[in-house]
Amino acid sequence: MSGSVTTAIVGLQWGDEGKGKLIDLLADRHDAVVRYNGGANAGHSVVVEGVRYALHLIPSGILHADTLAVIGNGVVVDPAVLLREVDGLAERGVDVSALRLSNRAHVVLPWHRAEDELRETILRGGSTGEGGQIGTTKRGIGPAYADKAHRSTAIRAGDLLDEGRLRQRLEAVLPLKSRCLEALGSPPVEVDALVDTALAWGARLRPMICDTTYLLHGLLADGKSLLFEGANATLLDVDHGTFPFVTSSNCTTLGIPAGTGIPGRCVERVLGVCKAYCTRVGSGPFPTELHDQTAERIRERGNEYGTTTGRPRRCGWLDLVALKYACMINGVTGLSIMLLDVLAGFDELQLCTTYEVDGERTDRFTPDAAVLDGVTPVYESVPGFAEEVRAARSLGDLPSEARAYLDRIEAFVGVPIEVVSVGPDRAETIQISA
Ligand code: IMP
Repeated sequence: MSGSVTTAIVGLQWGDEGKGKLIDLLADRHDAVVRYNGGANAGHSVVVEGVRYALHLIPSGILHADTLAVIGNGVVVDPAVLLREVDGLAERGVDVSALRLSNRAHVVLPWHRAEDELRETILRGGSTGEGGQIGTTKRGIGPAYADKAHRSTAIRAGDLLDEGRLRQRLEAVLPLKSRCLEALGSPPVEVDALVDTALAWGARLRPMICDTTYLLHGLLADGKSLLFEGANATLLDVDHGTFPFVTSSNCTTLGIPAGTGIPGRCVERVLGVCKAYCTRVGSGPFPTELHDQTAERIRERGNEYGTTTGRPRRCGWLDLVALKYACMINGVTGLSIMLLDVLAGFDELQLCTTYEVDGERTDRFTPDAAVLDGVTPVYESVPGFAEEVRAARSLGDLPSEARAYLDRIEAFVGVPIEVVSVGPDRAETIQISA
């Protein structure tokens, strides 16, 4: 169909960069859109012809006819959330028959959510000032990945299709989980009720569940192209992000091979997505965070409230040190700068180009919360732009100051800008190259 190369789209900051819009823009040039990490902690908002879709688990490619939407083995799936999303899309006339779910994707079960919630509550009382909590989305993500690593207490999507196997596994797991739930003060889970619920999920998901590794390799062998949809973002990557204030999966492109079975060398193009400024939800270091009217203005203009939790996002200036690191880790070949329109009206804009640590300057990002907490951002001031830019459809339509802002980003990071987004709608986009 496409002639497009196999591409990855990855968030370069702390999430919510607007990846959904970009995936939606590129989806119909690819034969399948593939999720490889995370779970219902992600939230992609896509606006198509004025209709807003909030997707958490289903790849945004579902909004395109002729594009498969694939949830790979690296994703942790809460079947209740997935089915709610399927029903919501079907009600709005979206055909969901092109959805595929890996039989090896791990299942988020009721105790995972309970454990996530309770861990956060208990850790809030910790001794480290703000408490030891991560500020998770409470979607059970960490506990589900922990069970994947524990192995003996995990349930995978394929298990939902076989009553005997499912009952055997749940009966084996429940004594331990019941004791944990009891210790955590949560209500007990009754095995027969859970088996019934899980079988009902399996019955509905059966047409979607398959070996997605062979499916994807088959597509590649037929000359088709894949679009990998990164959930969460680089600085939330469990290995390469601001640990421990991260999520539990490899959100970078480094997660693609493990999360889908497709080798990294098959990904020919990596589009890194960042906002024209920075935001973060949850706890953890954020060197360029602002606590003033600028932050307030960015939050209101950018509608910076979480898609998944509704929490107000922390806001600050663009951190080029972190951005350059993120490009390096992901092998980014092109940048997408989102929400440029939000910055209209500031007299001056600030770009963080260096960190100061113990009186020394460094251009290295440190993916360690304790160290990153101690850095002081050093800024370069650039002139702001007064005019609104939502009507711009080419770089030439932008005020010269906005173009200079983009040029500075490109020069610093050393990666070409391919897309600039100036508003939420599909049409409000400047495509520099495709
Ligand atoms: P968890 O993924 O729910 O365990 O949350 C871990 C951290 O990652 C928290 O700070 C969350 O707010 C953050 N997080 C997880 N997913 C996203 C996302 O898609 N966008 C922004 N932040 C996220």
